[in-house]
Amino acid sequence: MPSPPTITVSMHETDIALLSFDMPGKGANILSRSVLDEFSTHLDKLQKRDDLAGLVIASGKPGTFIAGADLREFAASLDVPREEVVAICRRGQSLFARLAECPFVTVAAIDGLCLGGGAELAVWCDRRVLSDQPKTEIGFPEVKLGLFPGWGGTARAPRMIGLSNAVEMITGGDSVDAWAAAAMGLADDVVAVDRLLAASIDMVRSEQVSGRYREDRKQWSRPLTISDTELGFLGATASALIREKTKGQYPAPQAALEVMLEAAGSDLDAACLLEAQRMSGLFGSPVNRALLNVFFLQERLKKDTGLSGDGIQPGKLETVGIVGAGLMGSGIAAATIKNGLPVILSDAAPDALARGLRNALEEASYNRKLGGTDAARAMELSPLLNVRFADEDLARCDLMLEAVVENAEVKQALYAKIEPRLRPDAVLASNTSTIPITRLAAKLKHPERFCGIHFFNPVRRMKLVEVIRGEKTSDATVVTAVAYAKRIGKLPIVVNDSPGFLVNRLLMQYMNEAQELLCEGVSIRDVDKAATAFGMPVGPILLYDMVGLDTALFAGRTMWEAFPKHVVASPVLPALVKAGRLGQKSGAGFFSYDNPKRQPEPDPKVDAIIAQYHRDNGGATREQITHRLFLPMLLEATRLLEEKIVRDVRDIDFGLIFGLGFPPFQGGLLFWADTIGAAKVVEMLKPFEHLGMRFQPTDYLLEMAKEGRRFYP
Ligand code: NAI
Repeated sequence: MPSPPTITVSMHETDIALLSFDMPGKGANILSRSVLDEFSTHLDKLQKRDDLAGLVIASGKPGTFIAGADLREFAASLDVPREEVVAICRRGQSLFARLAECPFVTVAAIDGLCLGGGAELAVWCDRRVLSDQPKTEIGFPEVKLGLFPGWGGTARAPRMIGLSNAVEMITGGDSVDAWAAAAMGLADDVVAVDRLLAASIDMVRSEQVSGRYREDRKQWSRPLTISDTELGFLGATASALIREKTKGQYPAPQAALEVMLEAAGSDLDAACLLEAQRMSGLFGSPVNRALLNVFFLQERLKKDTGLSGDGIQPGKLETVGIVGAGLMGSGIAAATIKNGLPVILSDAAPDALARGLRNALEEASYNRKLGGTDAARAMELSPLLNVRFADEDLARCDLMLEAVVENAEVKQALYAKIEPRLRPDAVLASNTSTIPITRLAAKLKHPERFCGIHFFNPVRRMKLVEVIRGEKTSDATVVTAVAYAKRIGKLPIVVNDSPGFLVNRLLMQYMNEAQELLCEGVSIRDVDKAATAFGMPVGPILLYDMVGLDTALFAGRTMWEAFPKHVVASPVLPALVKAGRLGQKSGAGFFSYDNPKRQPEPDPKVDAIIAQYHRDNGGATREQITHRLFLPMLLEATRLLEEKIVRDVRDIDFGLIFGLGFPPFQGGLLFWADTIGAAKVVEMLKPFEHLGMRFQPTDYLLEMAKEGRRFYP
């Protein structure tokens, strides 16, 4: 059966056609192959008409114009030959180019998201009218997928908004709101949403009278007027910025810059051809594949309910209680009220509660443009933040989240007081980062209504949440916890209870190994450099200082106790903690911070402490250090799969990228391992097997190697 159409064409005022995108059954319009075919058929008919003054292109979905191209189709064609990629780009370009050749004015009427291929369609129109809604934004995010616009965006945008604006938008990948678009000439008018169609029709009329659009069509087909000096200056400054941002690990922004600079002296047709040719070098590249994977990791979680089957609905979520108003509790409270859910916040210490309330409100009403608190927003949000903790208030809570000190006895004593006061259908959850959920639930009357909801610090920035299922946690509790995390803008992964849960369990292997390398005489600098060269945002040693050495020691101990066979208890951390070096917070850890800017500086005292535990292992190359850091993490991931701690391999990659900053251009730990292959990984482990169990391939890995299987299905 043919799929129902996405595009409808209707007439307005006898001589203006309205072409509207409304993909049936979807939340957003996507430019799939079939939608582009439909568009082409409509254009064929419209172009032939001599009774039209204009064409307005709009969306039938309020709040979204066109979200971009169909990335599933992209993913399915990653292996096509380069000539085919060129051909795909050329077809898209010539389809959209017809918008600038119609015998009438073409106007894009944009409300909501207008991204990627949608933005390209818009820039091929003669004019763009944008709604003033906060959701309206226009941009070219292709570099975030390791690509650049390939349907004429890099050719048309510089000619329309100027090379420097186009370079900033296309190489940065960030979209702009309607006002910023108007300031650079990308929007020709910004109007209230209910005037969008009328204003677009007015635009057709005024262009028809002035004929200015015909001048612009000619102008935008020519080479850019820019001197060689200006071009050289723009190239050098943009290149330096891109290098600083991408560290050479993401090739697309530089490639986008080059294509725009090189085509500046050519006409539009030649610029389009160059765009298509260069795009073929990026499409299907390893970084493109990895970044597409990261995109799909997120898409999958957006749809995930937390259970493999469906049928169980989340419980009511109208009020959230939070106990513990410290760093985490106040951050979680801020995220909750910001998303419109009322919070009852409490803390054992009145001054901590006062501080927590202030912090939560300030954070929730922070306005990036103002660079501070938005007083009006704070007034709006403050009724959502309450402190009354009487029985009737607790009885109103659908979810009670505990974020008090990391001490099992304190937490359990608190639950004993709170649980009897909660409604029988309310969920109780802990934000613990290390204590097993099953252990915390031991004395509860209703352990089935208890789970872990582990947020990451800082809550406002970290998308990841681990929802932890204890032995007795019910499905209903899990789906409610997942629904809550999503409601406040997070992407939760559901994991079974295990020491360190998912992220910290993997992190500990990597950080522990860094200490082992130090004991073998590898310098702190070389260890951290190997990690950052692999793409980690900071090296493991600096990370120790950021996390706090005492906190890391506590978490490490949990791991050593749980897995004595394959986790080593390195002596370095306890020695540094004993010496009072707790990391950045105490002014000294692996580095010292005893300088006006509190920058990490090497400290000979640390070298002396490490030297006490020195055992020579013959040195290590950069590659060996990299393998030493990431292979134990990979083996631990296979143990998580063996033990069925995770539901899907993709949860591991999502957790590492969004919890630890594992480099997106590697696609994830298991995605990276798949690019190597299990058999080769087993080979890579061999030189390190003498170091102990932690480098022995697991049965899971050996089986994969034997069967030639990959982690990703
Ligand atoms: P924090 O020390 O900033 O705040 C804890 C708050 O709990 C304090 O305000 C304290 O007065 C209050 N408190 C202590 N006992 C209480 C009781 N019996 N009843 C009510 N309030 C009580 O600690 P933070 O960092 O916010 O950590 C809280 C929880 O979140 C811990 O379980 C921690 O492991 C976990 N966590 C911490 C992360 C971090 O980076 N700090 C990250 C993820 C989880």
